[in-house]
Amino acid sequence: MTQFVQDIIFKNGLLYDESAGGFVPGDLLIKNGKIKAIGQNLSASVAAVDVRGAWLLPGLIDMHVHLREPGQEYKETLETGAAAAMAGGFTTVCCMPNTIPVIDTSGIVEFIKKRSQNFLVTIHPVGAVTKGRKGEELVEMADLQRAGAVAFSDDGDSVKTAEMMRRALEYSKMLGALIIDHCEDVSLSEGKHMNEGLVSTRLGIYGIPHVAEEIIVARDILLAAFTGGRLHLAHVSTKASVEMIREAKRRGIPVTAETCPHHFSLTDEAVVLFDSNLKVNPPLRTAEDVAAVKEGLRDGTIDVIASDHAPHAPQEKEVEFDAAPFGLTGMETAVGLVFRELVQPGILTPRQVVEKMAINPAKILNLGDRSFKAGNKAHVTVLNPAQKWVVDVFQFKSKARNCPFQGWELVGKSLGVYGNSQWWSEEIAVS
Ligand code: DOR
Repeated sequence: MTQFVQDIIFKNGLLYDESAGGFVPGDLLIKNGKIKAIGQNLSASVAAVDVRGAWLLPGLIDMHVHLREPGQEYKETLETGAAAAMAGGFTTVCCMPNTIPVIDTSGIVEFIKKRSQNFLVTIHPVGAVTKGRKGEELVEMADLQRAGAVAFSDDGDSVKTAEMMRRALEYSKMLGALIIDHCEDVSLSEGKHMNEGLVSTRLGIYGIPHVAEEIIVARDILLAAFTGGRLHLAHVSTKASVEMIREAKRRGIPVTAETCPHHFSLTDEAVVLFDSNLKVNPPLRTAEDVAAVKEGLRDGTIDVIASDHAPHAPQEKEVEFDAAPFGLTGMETAVGLVFRELVQPGILTPRQVVEKMAINPAKILNLGDRSFKAGNKAHVTVLNPAQKWVVDVFQFKSKARNCPFQGWELVGKSLGVYGNSQWWSEEIAVS
């Protein structure tokens, strides 16, 4: 249950200090929803939460989720999506525009902002790049931005043509906006269901070649260089994509990138189970791609980890692999997969995790300074990096259950979140 608590003190935590990039033991006092003080042995006669040595982090941000409202509320709603975000440790999410109708007018942006205005979780709508995501006509980007669109994307599809992406990047540059890029050449992927390779051949499933992603990564890096518009490459999944992004950054092209937990935790080998929850777009790739994605995360080529939370109803997923829609739920397992797959094996340091799940998305999205400084609005994630837990999809707060990690033992769990003057936790009580 969320509790409205404008004033609260978090005691006995390890606070993330952004300037030092490390943790310091201490307490965090919040007054009127804003950071009031950070220090040792603080006392105040306000609601108190003893976090018993857990990390106190600037609220985690998931910059790539599908919340399905408006239009497909049977899969997820803004409210159930926000509940899933809280359970996963996120205080801020960006919702993608492939809703029905598409988020392509200021009215729909306003609808989402208004409907979620009293939530603990801040929901930032991402506007479509083109009307109806059809690739034919740009949306009124300035209008949508004024209404609260935090970025623009035709996610679910690429921006259809180079010409349209060029115009989008030119406008976005004028507006200081960000384009989030779903990279997929549909002429190579249409009618196909998993990664093309040995496994797809063995299983007799039509495969999507890795080059379907890479062609658009290459096109749009070239267009970002040409226009100077800011491009964020979503759900990067292949080795050559990582290599191109690394080279683009070396050349000073304004690109950033994200990958998703499933793209560093699973390979296409998993599809031998024919579990339709493993059907995702871009598809699960080979071990070589996964290794490249991990190296991209380690060396900073990939700036952000985002879930690409894509809820679907059971009746849609409980069909043959070929007939199922693409997508898996991700917000409630993201933290546990990050610690299990990246931190425990020594690929990422705790500092890098905080950067990729809180600091970098805030910078890329221009969300302002969210560090623990007196006067800043308080967004806090309380996280135990060592807590082991087993995924049980039936406990999810999301409406959806399409998660391929059922029964996995994960490491690292959010214990509670604070945002918009509200505290939510099922693990720690307020005294
Ligand atoms: O797997 C996916 N599902 N990839 C996408 O790009 C879209 C998403 C969805 O909306 O279900």
